[in-house]
Amino acid sequence: MCGIVGIAKRRDHVIKDLIAALKKLEYRGYDSAGIAVLSNGTIHVIKGVGTIDKVINSTRSIKDGNVGIGHTRWATHGGVSKENAHPHISCNGEVAVVHNGTLDDFNIIRDKLIRKGHKFSSETDTEVIAHLIEEKLAEIGDPVKAFSQAIYELKGSYAIASIIKGYNFILLARNKSPLVIGVGNGENYCASDVAALLHKTNRFIFLKDGEIALITPDRVDIWYLSESTMKKVENKIEVIDWSPQLLDKGNYEYFMLKEIYEQPYILNKLANSIDYYKKFSDQLLRYSESGGISIVAAGTSYHAGLIGKFLLSKLAGMRSEVIIASEFPEWSHHVNKSDTILAISQSGETADVLEAVRIAKSRGAKVLSIANVPGSTLTRLSDETAFIQAGPEIGVAATKTFLAQVAVLYIISSLISGKSTVRIKDGLINVAKELESSMEHISTISRRISSLLMDREHVFFLGRGINYPTALEGALKLKEISYIHAEGYPAGEYKHGPLALIEKGVPSIVLVPSDERTREKIIYNIMEIRSRGAFTITIQPKSVNIPSDFSLPLDVKSELTSPMIYVVPLQLIAYHTAVSLGRNPDKPRNLAKSVTVE
Ligand code: AGP
Repeated sequence: MCGIVGIAKRRDHVIKDLIAALKKLEYRGYDSAGIAVLSNGTIHVIKGVGTIDKVINSTRSIKDGNVGIGHTRWATHGGVSKENAHPHISCNGEVAVVHNGTLDDFNIIRDKLIRKGHKFSSETDTEVIAHLIEEKLAEIGDPVKAFSQAIYELKGSYAIASIIKGYNFILLARNKSPLVIGVGNGENYCASDVAALLHKTNRFIFLKDGEIALITPDRVDIWYLSESTMKKVENKIEVIDWSPQLLDKGNYEYFMLKEIYEQPYILNKLANSIDYYKKFSDQLLRYSESGGISIVAAGTSYHAGLIGKFLLSKLAGMRSEVIIASEFPEWSHHVNKSDTILAISQSGETADVLEAVRIAKSRGAKVLSIANVPGSTLTRLSDETAFIQAGPEIGVAATKTFLAQVAVLYIISSLISGKSTVRIKDGLINVAKELESSMEHISTISRRISSLLMDREHVFFLGRGINYPTALEGALKLKEISYIHAEGYPAGEYKHGPLALIEKGVPSIVLVPSDERTREKIIYNIMEIRSRGAFTITIQPKSVNIPSDFSLPLDVKSELTSPMIYVVPLQLIAYHTAVSLGRNPDKPRNLAKSVTVE
């Protein structure tokens, strides 16, 4: 969703750097962009609807300077227009603000400011911040105090960066929206996530809710804002070991394809770091002895959570429930201080997940998390985090992080069950080998399957047992990037309704279990839909030969690790279908990589 950057340099100009950092945030999704630069004591703003490149072309018309802020906007309050794009400036042009988040009751502040003579030029909640700072500046004079007083009046979620005429620094504030500070040499930065700044630094300070900060080219000062007074906070710098090369597409046409191909390497890496997950597994086991485990996640991470529930039950005999994060407030009245939340999130910034965690924490529950992005808000709210070590994921469609989440859940459940490190490692290495050796073949067959799907209106994905969530994931991938309607179903549930939609030629992709007992049942399900004219595509173990119209045989050694194999053709089918339809799989319409609003 909205992305923020800010750069304070000693001498050099910032526009080029602001644009480079903003472009690293493009993957979050945006509809408009803008920058504001302080030069010769004056603020110059350029903003507009469309791509950052469009803004670049027009930057020639503004003066460069050495302090600036930038923004990519994903519309929430107000339509997509130049007026609503950020940065927003105050009436006298002396304050510029960029903001990610949503302010509650901003109309009350807006009306108050209008009564004082402020004139608004957008429909956004953000614009009130610029006018409010201007108002406080007139009252108080000191820019840091004026900024903090303005922030104190805001309610809701915000990551804010602001520059003020005549001052060579950037002011920041954070509450429930991500904001990191990058520490450089003779220059300092801020951004919505580390990906925007990795090409500049690997040293970061992660701001906490309620903190405000000031960054100059040589200094970072942080305060905690409490009851309108500011208490100085110590700067805690963390080093992030993600390489900036991971943010490069290399020779791949799209990030999504690159990320799909990275999967065997991630599995090998995880297979070699099983000991790292021992502490987390012990903690989960210990916590489960005092109460229930609620797995909480959204989208693809929710599907991984369902597989996690299966693995915890099957391997470790452990009871758990899975709650969709956005539904947690309504479905969690039983969760209390003896329980544990196992939150799963790639970004660690999904607002629904964070809200669920905050609710659970307020009732005294313990929080464990499985996350990808170091320093993300979820990791700050958790008692302990297990990182999935997948590196940055840029494609909006989650691919490698799903596989890594499932692999980590497999490791954790296996460790709790008492399986030896060697056996767990073997299980993962086998999957990695199969993927490594078959990737090209899987891609070729998936492309062929995609040619059978691209002119269809509906596609169904069926699975049983541990691959029922994999079917859900296959359907999500196809619908989110190709815009073809797709449904995932447990194969046995199909006859309780959706079978009515089966008519001649409707494609159904069936994930055939390697486990004999479940396979027998799915064969029957396949017969049911074929006899009604469905076009069946099976992804099945090499060792069997289930009749269907089209099949992709794969080497599946164990049912419990099969989701990590079966999901790959599903990702590639979605990818090839989207590309054949001329859709950009990295940036599907209406979607953002990190969903930071509820
Ligand atoms: C998956 O392809 C999605 N783009 C989406 O469902 C995503 O998994 C969801 O928004 C959750 O994100 P998170 O893992 O960062 O919390």
